[in-house]
Amino acid sequence: GKRPLIAPSMLKCDFANLHTDIARLEAANAPLLHMDVMDGHFVPNLSYGALVIEKIRKCTDLPFDAHLMISDPEKYYQDYVNAGCDAITIHIEAVPEPGELLEKIRASGCSPGLVLNPDTPVEAIKPWISACDLVLVMSVNPGFGGQKFMPVALDKLSAIKELLRDDQFLSIDGGVALDTIGECAQHGANLFVCGSSIFDKDDYSEAVSGLLAEINI
Ligand code: DX5
Ligand code: ZN
Repeated sequence: GKRPLIAPSMLKCDFANLHTDIARLEAANAPLLHMDVMDGHFVPNLSYGALVIEKIRKCTDLPFDAHLMISDPEKYYQDYVNAGCDAITIHIEAVPEPGELLEKIRASGCSPGLVLNPDTPVEAIKPWISACDLVLVMSVNPGFGGQKFMPVALDKLSAIKELLRDDQFLSIDGGVALDTIGECAQHGANLFVCGSSIFDKDDYSEAVSGLLAEINI
């Protein structure tokens, strides 16, 4: 299996001081950044898009995983490739037949990922799991940080874990914190998206190492 990774979710970050905030995440040994892109249509909130990510790209060499919470990723994914994202994760609810788009993302040089909401069954993504470098399980309804972890995600992790190869990431996003990350790891997750559990703390290093400690790293 893969070494577990903590991916800070760039949603509760300090948008007025992104450069400083990213330097603090680098100092905390964050191995990648999770970019929460929201279009105010697929989810009831608006965050930021490719123009901002392109600027952040110049601040750090950390890999970027773009979590596209947008209704038409087919139309916009190339902007995220051009902005310097390393992985692009699309929602099955937005693209019910994602085969072609996943291939296009890979052909563009990015790692393709597929994500499913709490109400979406694992069956919906099954035919395309092998085409992904990462599968992301939402443990909250997407749109906002700071929500409560939904345990329904744990069974999904187990079910998807059975279908994955060793070279694929199994990721979890939403309410991942000191009291929930251990269970997620036990159910097979190895890429943990963490928003509030990092950004609500004064010391990001302490936050990241505390989370890793819960999964015995
Ligand atoms: C939810 C986003 C998450 C969120 C995580 O719509 O996809 O990445 O920001 O934040 P926490 O960890 O606070 O639930
Ligand atoms: Zn996210």
